[in-house]
Amino acid sequence: MSEPKSETSTASIDTEARTTAPRVDIDEVAQTQPGALEYDYTNFYFGAGEDAFALLEPFDDWWRQVKPAGYYLYELPLHSAPGTRVDVEDTKTGEIRRGLVNFASYNYLGLSYRPEVKEAIKEAADVYGGGSSGSPILSGTTALHMQFAQEVADFKGQEAAMVFPTGYSANVGTIAGLMRSGDLIVADQYAHASIVDGMILSKAKSRFFRHNRPDDLDRKLAGFDGKKLVIVEGVYSMDGDTPPLAEIVAVCRKHGARLMIDEAHSAFVFGETGKGVAEHQGLDDEIDIHLGTFSKSLGGQGGYIAGSEQLINYLRGFSRSRFFSCALSPVVVAGLRKALEIATDEPELRKKLWDNVAYMQKLLGDAGVPMGDSTSQVIPIMVRDDARIFSMGEEIFREGVFINPVKYPAVGKHKSRFRMSISAAHSNEELEEGADKIITVLRRYGICQ
Ligand SMILES: Cc1ncc(COP(=O)(O)O)c(C=O)c1O
Repeated sequence: MSEPKSETSTASIDTEARTTAPRVDIDEVAQTQPGALEYDYTNFYFGAGEDAFALLEPFDDWWRQVKPAGYYLYELPLHSAPGTRVDVEDTKTGEIRRGLVNFASYNYLGLSYRPEVKEAIKEAADVYGGGSSGSPILSGTTALHMQFAQEVADFKGQEAAMVFPTGYSANVGTIAGLMRSGDLIVADQYAHASIVDGMILSKAKSRFFRHNRPDDLDRKLAGFDGKKLVIVEGVYSMDGDTPPLAEIVAVCRKHGARLMIDEAHSAFVFGETGKGVAEHQGLDDEIDIHLGTFSKSLGGQGGYIAGSEQLINYLRGFSRSRFFSCALSPVVVAGLRKALEIATDEPELRKKLWDNVAYMQKLLGDAGVPMGDSTSQVIPIMVRDDARIFSMGEEIFREGVFINPVKYPAVGKHKSRFRMSISAAHSNEELEEGADKIITVLRRYGICQ
């Protein structure tokens, strides 16, 4: 496994900056800006007044107050590839922090920066230039797009596949392309925003069943006469757990509902051949719509659906998010084709990933770090302290680890966490160094022993 060729590969945290950078003092913020920390985005969703811009100023005031107190930890610009170590701009101090151990990127197989992938991208740029310059239906489809869609179908073992500009648009386009007003869609309560947005756009009746509870799904489907679609994920993106598919399939069959699985975080890493969680659980043939992204395990960009020839053919005409949007850049497609080839030819990458996951679970588990019910490469570090998660996040960042804090409304209240992504590319030393630094900070806050 080659690592990102960056001058940044060795840890070099600027110790002076670490000690002199301004710290978040939550108590001080609470005293000087009473109320600011209790507010979040939801407070600025609805507001009085007739001006469409009425919420801009109050939101701006709040944002300026809370940004230095932790919200600045979002959208920090990277100055390197999303490798196992990254250079990240600290927007609070203006410094670039080099060689941070990276647990924030989705690059689960380390493919985004593989030399073969970069080479394929460069070659495609020479032939095709930068963009597709058209909708896939009109002029945006290149020979590369056609080949890649077939390769995805073959990899997934399905009759056909179709590629979207993003995983988000794959969900929106598929759900709203298939379901109509008067139909019923039932999704797991932890479904990703792109699934929820597809449900809203479809105008179908929307219900949510309790997370991973087939008995509740049964109740939500009961008594509805009409077209029904059930949607689950392969790996839930904030919790890292997987669905009990056999029971979910049984409930769907009982009610005549079609089943769609979003394998954004599980395709290419789960299952004997990497097809995903449905393969891993021996239920690939029971799924009606296979959906996933190329932005996680393949380290690129884009989304897909795979299934029967008839399904893909229908959605080719009705998925508006694909129809009315420019096709993926051929440069991206070229990189994805190479990444898929590597993921297929190197099953040892998946083995390394699962070894790394087991090792990290042991390192954190031995220190008593709470990790929820994760059974995947997505490991939530459950802090549950909405008020102090940002100060912990800042300290972890200054210790030399890049990992994202997640709090309400992205997860429920009092369910704050750090969302850790493990990659096959992490070395044991990086896992140890990262775990050690995180544990050091969590200990200060009494989160672990
Ligand atoms: C479950 C799930 N589906 C879809 C998406 C959207 O994928 P993309 O980022 O490729 O648009 C995500 C992104 O995180 C996700 O977690």
